[in-house]
Amino acid sequence: MTTQNTTAMHPDIERVLISEEDIQAKIAEIAAKIDRDYENRTPVLIGILKGSVLFLSDLLKRVTIDCSIDFMCVSSYEGDKSTGVVRLILDLRESIEGKDILLVEDIIDTGLTLGYLRQNLMTRKPRSLEIVSLLDKPDTRKVTIEAKYPGFQIPNEFVVGFGLDYNERYRNLPYIGVLKPAAYAGEGA
Ligand code: IMP
Repeated sequence: MTTQNTTAMHPDIERVLISEEDIQAKIAEIAAKIDRDYENRTPVLIGILKGSVLFLSDLLKRVTIDCSIDFMCVSSYEGDKSTGVVRLILDLRESIEGKDILLVEDIIDTGLTLGYLRQNLMTRKPRSLEIVSLLDKPDTRKVTIEAKYPGFQIPNEFVVGFGLDYNERYRNLPYIGVLKPAAYAGEGA
C-alpha cells in the first residue's frame, strides 16, 4: 500500500490511502482467483449499489470466465454515520436458485449490510454464496462477516473515492482517500 499517488488530488482530500495503481493491481489479483475458483461455472456477480459500481466494473473487465451481473441497492448510511438499520431499496431481477453467487461490496464496516444481504439471499437457495470486498475495516465489526476475496484492510477511518461517497460526493475519484475536516463542515471545494 502506498501513500503517494501520481493522480492529481481533489482539493477536499487530505491524503490518499490507496492509490489507483494499487487498487487496479489488487483487482487483477482478485479476478485471477475468481477465474481459478469458478472455472467451468457461471457465477452471478451481484453489485451492491451504489458503492460497488467502480469496483464491480473494473473486476468484470478482468474476469475471463463466463459470468453475469445483477444489482441490489441497500441503504444504511446517512452522511458518514451508519443508522444501523438496513433497508432494501432495489432487488435482483433474476432468481438465484441453484446459482453461484459472488456478492461484490465496496467496504465491510460493521458487517450489518452484508449480514442482512447474506441472510436474505440464502433464503433464495443459491448453490453457493461468497463475498468479494475491496475494503475491510475489521475493528468496527458488529456482525461476523468475512470476505472470501478481500482487497485491503484499512483502519477505522471514513474514506471516500473509487465508488465510496460522503453525501453522494467523491465517488468518481480513482483512488481511496481521507477527507479534510473542512469538507465535513460543508466547506468542501
Ligand atoms: P456496514 O453495513 O457497516 O458494513 O457498512 C457497509 C456500507 O457502509 C458500505 O457499503 C458503504 O456504503 C458504507 N460505508 C462504510 N464505511 C464507509 C466509509 O468509510 N466511507 C464511505 N462509505 C462507508
